Amino acid sequence: MNHFEYREQTMHCEGVPLPLIAAAVGTPFYAYSAATLTRHFQAIDQAFNDIPHVTCFAAKSCSNIAILNLFGHLGGGADIVSGGELFRALSAGIDPKKIVYSGVGKSPEELRYALKSGILMFNVESLQELATLQQVAAALDLVAPVALRINPDVDPKTHAYISTGLAKNKFGLPLEQAAAIYAEAQAMSHIEVMGVSCHIGSQLTTVAPFVESINKVIAFVKRLATDGITIKYLDMGGGLGICYDQEEPPLPAEYAAALKKALAGVPGCTLIIEPGRVIVGNAGILVTKVLYTKSGAKQFIIVDAGMNDLARPSLYGAYHGIQAVVQSDRGEVVADLVGPICETGDFLAKERALPVSETGDLLAVMSAGAYGFSMSSNYNSRPRVPEVLVRGDEFFVIRKRETFADLIHGESIPE
Ligand SMILES: Cc1ncc(COP(=O)(O)O)c(C=O)c1O
Repeated sequence: MNHFEYREQTMHCEGVPLPLIAAAVGTPFYAYSAATLTRHFQAIDQAFNDIPHVTCFAAKSCSNIAILNLFGHLGGGADIVSGGELFRALSAGIDPKKIVYSGVGKSPEELRYALKSGILMFNVESLQELATLQQVAAALDLVAPVALRINPDVDPKTHAYISTGLAKNKFGLPLEQAAAIYAEAQAMSHIEVMGVSCHIGSQLTTVAPFVESINKVIAFVKRLATDGITIKYLDMGGGLGICYDQEEPPLPAEYAAALKKALAGVPGCTLIIEPGRVIVGNAGILVTKVLYTKSGAKQFIIVDAGMNDLARPSLYGAYHGIQAVVQSDRGEVVADLVGPICETGDFLAKERALPVSETGDLLAVMSAGAYGFSMSSNYNSRPRVPEVLVRGDEFFVIRKRETFADLIHGESIPE
């Protein structure tokens, strides 16, 4: 459920009509509903209330500090994948003791920053990363809390670009090697083995791959116990999917029940989850304005948002619902919804029944809260668009529209 609804033919975000926001900040813009963000966070988090757990929101999916702060107030932590995301999480007031750090390519500087910040756990993805972390920690005379990220070789049955748990993917350590690396980690002077982590992919629409991977991880944790290695944290990553179109992903309760059933085999472990999309995906939209329409062999509706603002359709062929912000009785036309970017791959919808549109009409690109703004870029030298957070009848610009001056910030012409 989300809080984007029509009232008298005009789409509102909670109590605010979207044309009002458009008039205030221009187009395109991202709008997020605080009520939906809260509801979705709590739906996932509370599904695990009966077991020790930490909900570490995947910052990459939507990294604005106002949104991270909102989840922090709800008791959430953060899953980060870069020094920049750590900076954002800390700036948002997230408790470092609720931050886990994933990713295959953490630099020594990033490791140092995170170690000094006192994060909960590093999810280490290679033996070389482990050795680097040991060196960094020794130099700082600190002890690094570590989980090794296991690659369970499980097919998440999602888009190839967002599958992470197959043996051929770059993520994690093969199960066959992991026990030996845990033994090495255990022997390192500035490493403390705390957990096991695993994340098999994003936009999963069935529970079976989660079950398959947690069962493999739990069998592995039991094996570690026989080697004298005790695991305190089991980080099962994120990945629960949402409905963009016709998908019917498991409800949080079903997902939680499956994980909890498996976890009963390792009492005493605290569960960490890293949900992103399932919390923010349907809590945000991108609002864009129709610039022109044209027809020839095909019909095109040209809008002021492009693949630099929302990369998912171009990158993954992803589906986003398109709705008129103000409903009319003009009917529908099968058309491509395209942006101003000079790439044929710049589209938001292809051969879709879309509202018959005229210059100046506002269209809402639905389900754009996850991997929307956070993947946006300045390609074609387009300033990034504003982000607006709606709370009840009020709205707040939580990121200003960039200016042309922002585009060349930091650039210089040599003498
Ligand atoms: C390590 C890790 N954790 C969590 C997530 C969040 O995934 P999702 O947004 O599908 O919940 C990702 C995204 O791919 C990830 O790489």
